[in-house]
Amino acid sequence: MSALFSAIKIKEITISNRIVMAPMCQYTAASDGLVTDWHRIHYGARAVGKVGLILLEATGVEPRGRISEKDLGIWDDNQLHGLKQIVDFGHEQGSVMGIQLAHAGRKSDVSDKASIIGPSPVPYDNTYTIPREMTKREIDEVIQSFATAAKRADEAGFDIVELHGAHGYLIHSFLSPLSNHRTDEYGETRENRLRLLKEIIEAVRRVWPVNKPIFLRISASDFTEGGIDLEETIEMMKYVKEWGIDVIDVSIGGLVPINVDARPGYLVKFAEQIKQQVGIPTVTAGLISEPEMAEEIIHNDRADFVALGRELLRNPQWPLHAAERLGYDIDWAKQYLRAKHKLPYSR
Ligand SMILES: Cc1cc2nc3c(=O)[nH]c(=O)nc-3n(C[C@H](O)[C@H](O)[C@H](O)COP(=O)(O)O)c2cc1C
Repeated sequence: MSALFSAIKIKEITISNRIVMAPMCQYTAASDGLVTDWHRIHYGARAVGKVGLILLEATGVEPRGRISEKDLGIWDDNQLHGLKQIVDFGHEQGSVMGIQLAHAGRKSDVSDKASIIGPSPVPYDNTYTIPREMTKREIDEVIQSFATAAKRADEAGFDIVELHGAHGYLIHSFLSPLSNHRTDEYGETRENRLRLLKEIIEAVRRVWPVNKPIFLRISASDFTEGGIDLEETIEMMKYVKEWGIDVIDVSIGGLVPINVDARPGYLVKFAEQIKQQVGIPTVTAGLISEPEMAEEIIHNDRADFVALGRELLRNPQWPLHAAERLGYDIDWAKQYLRAKHKLPYSR
């Protein structure tokens, strides 16, 4: 019996194993955020590899919310066709399909620099554009953009939406006092810094089916004096759980330039603390590549999902090999059964 290969049900969505493809920008969209063959093959290969949950990369909810002009987009109905093809193929292979809804805020590098917005005119560092402080109207527009993006994600057939609240992008930049210097109802106190996130969750919930989960990706620590630390994150996540987030996808950093001594599994303790103290399912990621480590994390209930990023870029069929190593019999795509059973080639 393998914990890593046990199914889990969140709301009405059953995921066949605990392996998540971490959202990873490919910077390969066609103009206007459209899916290309690269995306179809890239995500399709991991579905063939039997990843339980595939989270599509940060996808812009509005053009000014892209990290780059090569980001995928979900701000226009024209973008749905390509996304739906990816979802349909993933479903055929048995993967649950999610999409990360993102707004880059002050970390956007689109060519229209005047469109770059943030909570306060504080750049990420001196190589980045100084963002324009958002007006209340712009805040409302962004909230609406997340909601229409979620509605489109449902139309495309996605099972899960993940709100990108990590890595210094717009939502995170409102949460952290290092980037949010506002004095209105969106700044200063913790309650106010959480307001944008709360309003986005509420708006998404109004359009997203009640039987489908909403994940939130967060940076559990800014690792910088005056920023968010794990203790504050835990307090914030208690609210977020009440507002209807089903799973917290735990990452770190990205708000200010930092150096972290990263080793395999170095973020598990953050996901574990949040899971225990908030009582909510979590995803952990961070240099995980050994099946035994992934199995240990799930077996000991330290997180509910293990997300793999770079390892899945190296090895799209990681789950098939991990199952073999752990002595678990997983279904392969029927086209590849000769390889699974090491049968001789014959017509
Ligand atoms: C090429 C690449 C692109 C990434 N893009 C995103 C992204 O779109 N959204 C996000 O939340 N994290 C992104 N990340 C971070 C990953 O989701 C993951 O948290 C990180 O790579 C650590 O996991 P790993 O050590 O298994 O790669 C990206 C990472 C890589 C390597």
